[in-house]
Amino acid sequence: MTTETERLRERVAAELLRARDRTVRLTEAVDEGDLVAQHSPLMSPLVWDLAHVGNQEELWLVRDVGGREPVRRDIDELYDAFKHARRDRRALPLLNAAEARRYVAQVRDKALDVLDHARLDQGRRLVADGFAFGMIVQHEQQHDETMLATHQLRSGPPVLSAPPPPAPATPVTGEVLVPGGTFTMGTDTEVWALDNERPAHQVFVPSFHIDRAAVTNADYAAFMDAGGYDDPRWWSSPGWNHRQEAGLVAPAHWRRDGQGWAATTFGRTEPIVPDEPVVHVGFHEASAYATWAGKRLPTEAEWEKAARWDPATGRSRRYPWGDESPSPQHANLGQLHLRPAAAGAFPAGASPLGVHQLIGDVWEWTSSDFHGYPGFAAFPYREYSEVFFGPDYKVLRGGSFGTDRSAVRGTFRNWDYPIRRQIFTGFRCARDA
Ligand SMILES: [Fe+2]
Repeated sequence: MTTETERLRERVAAELLRARDRTVRLTEAVDEGDLVAQHSPLMSPLVWDLAHVGNQEELWLVRDVGGREPVRRDIDELYDAFKHARRDRRALPLLNAAEARRYVAQVRDKALDVLDHARLDQGRRLVADGFAFGMIVQHEQQHDETMLATHQLRSGPPVLSAPPPPAPATPVTGEVLVPGGTFTMGTDTEVWALDNERPAHQVFVPSFHIDRAAVTNADYAAFMDAGGYDDPRWWSSPGWNHRQEAGLVAPAHWRRDGQGWAATTFGRTEPIVPDEPVVHVGFHEASAYATWAGKRLPTEAEWEKAARWDPATGRSRRYPWGDESPSPQHANLGQLHLRPAAAGAFPAGASPLGVHQLIGDVWEWTSSDFHGYPGFAAFPYREYSEVFFGPDYKVLRGGSFGTDRSAVRGTFRNWDYPIRRQIFTGFRCARDA
């Protein structure tokens, strides 16, 4: 076995540990009552996420990769995300907090033993380059972000805290021109990329302008002050219907505060910060804002070209700043801060064309439906992405302040229903050149 394989093994173990530290922090921050409570019909009880993380690790690493005996085959059905809607999970005979903690620890011991013996340098595609382990690391980090979103929906005194994100040295405004032409979208080389990011393919994108920064709270408040929520001209017809039915008047978690607005963030209510990206808006609200502003949302291909295409070489980078993995200098990721940062706070993370903070801060709505790329092949299971393909879901890009660096890339694709705003969603605008 090469030392390269041993280094990969060490890196996998470190990533598994880092994900588990975060899971523990998110689940130890609240008491048992809060862990089993349903904080929103859109979310699972936190204790479900906890045991589900362990169950997926058991299914893929212990049983499939390791070929070991099941730890708890009897609970597979309870923690199968396709068997029970989130709103119904509280009523299931779930493991309690102590049982769930014991279960995930037992599974982890076995998974680390499987890792010690796995042939990462050859053999099955599932195991090569540590893919199955990388998939499980990302899965746990994705559930950690989901649990963070549950924390945002929970009522009661604050239990999470973090320092504020850095302030910008120079504020970033305006837009850039992305010249028309072909670029490489998706990837064949990113070893832990998921099936929907593959394969790499050439896409022609006509010239377009894209905003250098995400839409801010001040920008969005101007739309609201201009009567944006009351004017059907700015809304698509399904968007307007939803706006009417749901009675939308502002982003989620906003409330009137004298003449202005305040927002509740992880249990703390304070006036909105004008130059921070707006967060907790749905696709329909983002589209309506863009139409009002005389712009539109970028397509997914436009977003990825703005994020990855290097005009000097014509190649697509892993990230806007280059091929280097994200560090805290590049992007607001990993729950280091509990809010998005103002534009200009991460100049080292800008793209070659000068587009800022594409990675981190807020998930960005695109105008694109979620589909497989040409040549898509489900791997390792259809339920990861293929069953979600179609017009019901819109693609989100770039990750948020709550996304871990292991679970986002220039090619990473997220998706959700256009009405959803419980995740850390914002947007930036584009327009035809
Ligand atoms: Fe899951």
